[in-house]
Amino acid sequence: MHALSIARTCLCATLMAATCASAQQAKPPPIAIHSVNVDFPASTTAFPPGPGSDIAGKCLICHSAGMVLRQPALSRDQWKSEINKMRTVYGAPILDAEVEPLSAYFTEVTRQRQ
Ligand code: HEC
Repeated sequence: MHALSIARTCLCATLMAATCASAQQAKPPPIAIHSVNVDFPASTTAFPPGPGSDIAGKCLICHSAGMVLRQPALSRDQWKSEINKMRTVYGAPILDAEVEPLSAYFTEVTRQRQ
């Protein structure tokens, strides 16, 4: 091993030790957890009637109809991936057979609204 390489190794070890020491000294302040009450405004937006609107009620388990309807108009394939994201990422209880009618429904209702 060259002298330069040994010197680099030593410098590196010294820096790491110094970093650890300073991290141990700077203790973060204790976290204070408080309970708060929040009243969310009641949503008055409902999914418009139409084929698939009955299944769309499942989307309301987690968020409002307005939150879904305010999205930009998406293509049917984009709605399909959005619905599948809700299923796989967030665990939405949407059955395989419900994905097609739901994507058709949301394509239609968001297209009409634009
Ligand atoms: C199990 C809970 C759950 C269900 C059921 C659910 N979602 Fe979501 N959804 C979420 C969460 C969590 C987010 C992310 C919210 C955020 O980022 O603030 C979200 C966000 C969205 C968004 C915003 C865009 C995005 O990708 O973040 C759309 C559109 C959406 N959901 C559509 C739907 C539709 C349509 C259904 C019904 C087929 C549905 N969701 C059912 C949990 C759910």
